[in-house]
Amino acid sequence: MPISGRDRGGRGDAGARPAGSRPAGDSRSEAGRLAAGRGRVARGLLHGLLACFLTPCAAVAQVDDAAALAEQGPRLYEEHCALCHGSEGEGRPPAVPALRGNERLGIAARTIRFIRRGAANMPPFPALAAAEVTALARHVRTAWTNDFGGVAIGDVAAVLDERTDAGETASVWDGVFTEAQAARGRDVYTGACGLCHGRRLNGAPDDPDMRSTPPLARARFLREWEGRSLAVLLAFTRLTMPEDNPGSLTDEEYVDVIAYMLSVGRMPAGGELPTDSRRLAHVLIGQRP
Ligand code: HEC
Ligand code: HEC
Repeated sequence: MPISGRDRGGRGDAGARPAGSRPAGDSRSEAGRLAAGRGRVARGLLHGLLACFLTPCAAVAQVDDAAALAEQGPRLYEEHCALCHGSEGEGRPPAVPALRGNERLGIAARTIRFIRRGAANMPPFPALAAAEVTALARHVRTAWTNDFGGVAIGDVAAVLDERTDAGETASVWDGVFTEAQAARGRDVYTGACGLCHGRRLNGAPDDPDMRSTPPLARARFLREWEGRSLAVLLAFTRLTMPEDNPGSLTDEEYVDVIAYMLSVGRMPAGGELPTDSRRLAHVLIGQRP
């Protein structure tokens, strides 16, 4: 049954995150939308609990819970997963596996672990609450042609160890790269990215005959990437860029380019940006606070 001591791990997880560590509490921000979504799930559970006085608890909670999760799943997937796995779960073979028709999703615990912890080239998502991981796992196991069955919050709580998974989030505005990294990144950028993304990182190539590309800094970039972590940016860039030779740089070079992208966006320098995606997963992209 979905309401149990363990299930509350979902809300405990969300609550463990210091409110101030989120990017500005702008209601249009993804973080804001996620928080609102979490609120909806929490409210659904609360209604379930209140209704327990009137009807058998489990039945009511299950209905409310399922409705809230069904609503959240597709939205969270579009925000966090479609970038790599595609809106229809088609993936980007061979770099990113398809999720549609993927028999490996048949094992619920494995799906949950992938979402939270990631893998070699899959970024981890430590900032998602257990309720959000539940909604995502359920969505990818039941969307498109998939028919692997639902996932209850209790399943997620059983797989995840909140003590090791929860962590504080930081923002790209907190001083997360060094001047030296940005300076090295500028050279890497000029050699490996500038031809397509433009000298000013605005997506306008210097050669007018070349097609335009997405901007890699400033307002439009931030809007597009808001709420995603630097682990997602690193993994996506390493898997797909430079477009003509993906994965051809070292991790240090990719991270240096990211430092340069942030510095062009006027984010302050500070401590060293790590290459470890488990640490990068705690640094969220967002508007200037
Ligand atoms: C930056 C690109 C990227 C993003 C974003 C991403 N994934 Fe992945 N995902 C991958 C890659 C690459 C793999 C294969 C990893 C491996 O096997 O080492 C993978 C593997 C998986 C698997 C295991 C599939 C299998 O065949 O074993 C699942 C499940 C999964 N991802 C779900 C998700 C969900 C849900 C999200 C959104 C919360 C997500 N992924 C976001 C790149 C990504
Ligand atoms: C040969 C041209 C080319 C080169 C070189 C190239 N890119 Fe790209 N890049 C593209 C194109 C085209 C897209 C849009 C891809 C799409 O929409 O699927 C893109 C998209 C991106 C995106 C996603 C932006 C968004 O908001 O969707 C990032 C990040 C990125 N590139 C980073 C880099 C970095 C970093 C380098 C250098 C290491 C680089 N690219 C080199 C052509 C290139």
